Amino acid sequence: MMRDFDSKNGIMMIGGISTVELASEYGTPIYVTDEQIVRENYRRVYNAFSKHMSTEVHYACKANTNLAILNILRQEGSHIDAVSVGEVLTCIKAGFCPDRIMYTGVNVSNDELRSLISVKCKMNIDSESELERLAEILGNDVEGFPISFRITPEVISGCNTKVMTGGKGSKFGIPLDRVIPVYTRAKKLGFDVKGIHAHTGSGGHSIEPFFDVVDVLIKLTNKIKNEVGIDLEFIDFGGGFGVPYKLQEEECDIEGIATEITDMILENTNVKKICLEPGRYIVCDSTILLAKCTDVKDTGTKKYVGIDAGFNTLIRPAFYGSYHHVVLANKFNKACTTKYDVVGPICETGDCIAYDRILPDPHEGDIVAIYCAGAYGFSMSSNYNSRPLCGEVLVNNGRSELIRKSETIEDLWACQIVPERLKK
Ligand code: LLP
Repeated sequence: MMRDFDSKNGIMMIGGISTVELASEYGTPIYVTDEQIVRENYRRVYNAFSKHMSTEVHYACKANTNLAILNILRQEGSHIDAVSVGEVLTCIKAGFCPDRIMYTGVNVSNDELRSLISVKCKMNIDSESELERLAEILGNDVEGFPISFRITPEVISGCNTKVMTGGKGSKFGIPLDRVIPVYTRAKKLGFDVKGIHAHTGSGGHSIEPFFDVVDVLIKLTNKIKNEVGIDLEFIDFGGGFGVPYKLQEEECDIEGIATEITDMILENTNVKKICLEPGRYIVCDSTILLAKCTDVKDTGTKKYVGIDAGFNTLIRPAFYGSYHHVVLANKFNKACTTKYDVVGPICETGDCIAYDRILPDPHEGDIVAIYCAGAYGFSMSSNYNSRPLCGEVLVNNGRSELIRKSETIEDLWACQIVPERLKK
């Protein structure tokens, strides 16, 4: 079941603090993350796998790159899955040693390759072109340089076609029929090839793809050993654990998946280490987005609750059609009576956070809480309609701390340049 929150005197609480107080202290919209939930989620997934075999959890930081959250995960012992030089350097700034960061890019430029070599993070190669370009840039240093490969497993998962990555013909990874030639080539070039990686997609609820992708990775691992003579050290099956976004939705059986996957690997290969890259699972339900009701409108055919967070703040409903649970945080236990669309301040009809939700009678000034906003919430937010990015707050056992200031209007202009000739 989706994680719900406590209430006190009819007001929703998070991390022991009233959401109404948080909204008034920090302003809205504001993302609020409960530190304990991030820690719990990390430990649950790490413990599930590590009790069976040596495990590295690479937090997929694209879900949320706030430095405070990265520091929490560094304290927990996490590794990192990064997709850009920006993510790599942000994690280093949060104190991660480069050897705990694995870079898995797609369409990686030579400039990026050079930066990655200089920061010395681990590199997971996505294409034959990337392999050849990396070898050329490394020159003599190619000898013994550690890499792994992302392959296209021809297995897909995901909550939306936009985030299914593992299908045949996908832009990601080495196609199956090129895997043996690529490992052979890498060996010949002098690389030290350590592992094999795949990712099927994100946010799906079926567990079959995890077993299917691991089966593909096991078969390839053995084929690479037999045909190329490389004994791989790790198998990385990517991220993608689904998370319940609805109250009654089932949780993903991490324990069950971990037992079965590690059994498969230990029984069928000599591989000693498993890596996984959960993003959503670690941070999704740790965070709510608090917004304020700015306007209530009854059109005769439809009723709207207008709030100060739109798809500039949380794009998932508009972009993927994603469902996020919404409540009136200051009327937490009040009976829900009437159906509303919860809409934002962006000038597009598609700017809807939630359709057809039965809510208690809303009023201007009510505080609206949007659940499961920790993964791909802030990290996908934008300045569209010239709205400053909102802030982020961390709560922990009754204490709150600002971990990102909201942008100001001045920040919107910070990188812009008006040529002198246009100022006349
Ligand atoms: N590893 C790789 C190579 C990935 O591409 C991704 C996500 C992950 C790990 C983490 O997947 P997760 O455990 O979070 O499902 N913006 C979308 C999700 C995009 C995911 C892209 N790749 C959303 O809001 O649903």
